[in-house]
Parts: sequence; structure tokens; C-alpha cells
Amino acid sequence: MNNSFTVAHFKQAKKENNKITMLTAYDYPTARILDEAGIDSILVGDSLGMVVLGYDDTTKVTMEDMIHHIKAVARGAKRALVVGDMPFLSYHTGIYESVRNAGRLVSEGGCNAVKLEGGVEITEDIKAIIRAGIPVMGHIGYTPQSINLFGGHKAQGKTIDTARKILSDAIALQEAGVFAVVLECVPHRLARLITERLDIPTIGIGAGSGCDGQVLVTPDITGMLRDIKLKHSKRYAEFGEALEAAAQAYIEEVKREVFPTERNSFTIDDEIMERIIKNS
Ligand code: KIV
Repeated sequence: MNNSFTVAHFKQAKKENNKITMLTAYDYPTARILDEAGIDSILVGDSLGMVVLGYDDTTKVTMEDMIHHIKAVARGAKRALVVGDMPFLSYHTGIYESVRNAGRLVSEGGCNAVKLEGGVEITEDIKAIIRAGIPVMGHIGYTPQSINLFGGHKAQGKTIDTARKILSDAIALQEAGVFAVVLECVPHRLARLITERLDIPTIGIGAGSGCDGQVLVTPDITGMLRDIKLKHSKRYAEFGEALEAAAQAYIEEVKREVFPTERNSFTIDDEIMERIIKNS
């Protein structure tokens, strides 16, 4: 039985009022664990830049970075739909480049779909990518690649004009053919209204419970970066604490010669050892 989660399942899930779950991953072991946990979709987000590569924002992430990490995630995900983020400037310099770069994420990286940030202004690129046979996920509200325009990480759509713009962008993306749209840091009542108006699923991050699904950044929910605490996220584990404790225990045992023990070591025949000692 093929139990893979596909873009068709996104539509079906909305119809059946079955919440869609999505988390980010950037490497093979995390992808395997999320997949085995039963996640519907894995996003190789360009949040990679901050949570793995140590950049301040997502604008430094390149196509090569994305392909490298998508490859690892695609090898680990057997069931979940893998969505790869198109990085900053990979879809802003002409339709030919947009299609070519989306195609590289799929053919070289191995993801099943791509995600682009933006509304009505990128619908021609989206249509061309879909015509090439690549499913597209939209992303509106707070769009991190435009951090320099927004002047920081802020909720979007709190005024009449910006709320109307987000609603009209959502409709334009649906008309362009996206299979789902991420609503990031949008007031929850606006997100619920958009969700009701659209036939395609909305996937919220900081957009309340009225969306058809939810996405979060995995290192945020596992506490891997201990100094980061976000209003829209939730810590389900403390991996940062656990890793520091494991590292300290290891350091202490190596210094005290408690590790490694004989059980962690390999043996050699006494006779061979004697001969080596004698001949050296
Ligand atoms: O890059 C990312 O992780 C994202 C999510 C925040 C939706 O785009």
C-alpha cells in the first residue's frame, strides 16, 4: 500500500476537516524521526539560515544550501510530503529563472513541492512553475525574506489595508493554482476568515487555530537554540539542555578515564600483539 502524503491529501484533509501537520527538517535523522512520528509534511524551510547555519536572517541562504539540505531530508522522508523553500532572489529575476530554480530543487534536491513567499506579484512565476509540473505552496503574512522591508519580525495584517491585501493575496494565490498557503503571523480572526474563503488549505504559523493545518520550526519546538523563545511557538522538549548535559558527562568521563571501557574497545590476539611488540 502506498501511504505517502501527497498534495491531493492536502485538499482531501481540508474537505474532511482533518488538521494537516507540518514541521521543518534540514537533515536526514530529523526527517526520519518526523516521518516515523507520522507528520504529514516536512518543510525544508530557509529558516535553515538561522537555525542551522547561524545567519541573522534568511536572505543569505543560497540555492546550493537548499539543495544540499533538501537532498538529506528527501532521503529520510518515506511518507511525508517534502516541500522545499525557494531561497531569496531565486524567483525574482524572471520567470525562466523561477522555473529553472524550482526544477533544481525537485530534480537535484528531491522534494515533492516548492514554497515561495509573496502574493499577487509572484503569481506569473507560480503559474509557470506549476505548468512545469511542480506543485507550489504559497506563503503570505509575515514573509521572512522581506525582513528589510518589514523592519523586523512583526505580525502582519492588523490594519484595514494590510488585512485586505493579505486576503486578496490569498485569493490570487489560489487562482494561480497553489495547493496550500502558509499564513505567518497573521491575526487569528483574519486567518480564520481566509481559511473559510479558500478552497485550498491554509497552514498557520502564528495564525491561530482556525487554519486547516499548522507548521512550526523544529529546533524551536525542541529547544535546540536555548535563547530563542517565540510567542507563536511552543517548546515540546529541551534538546539544548539534554545535549549540554550529555556533552558535560562525556567530558567528565573522558577526563576521569571512565570512558571508554573494555566494552567499548576492540581486542586483538595476545600472540599477534607479542609478535608486534617483539618486531618493533
Ligand atoms: O523557513 C521556514 O521555516 C518557513 C516556516 C516558518 C513556515 O517558511
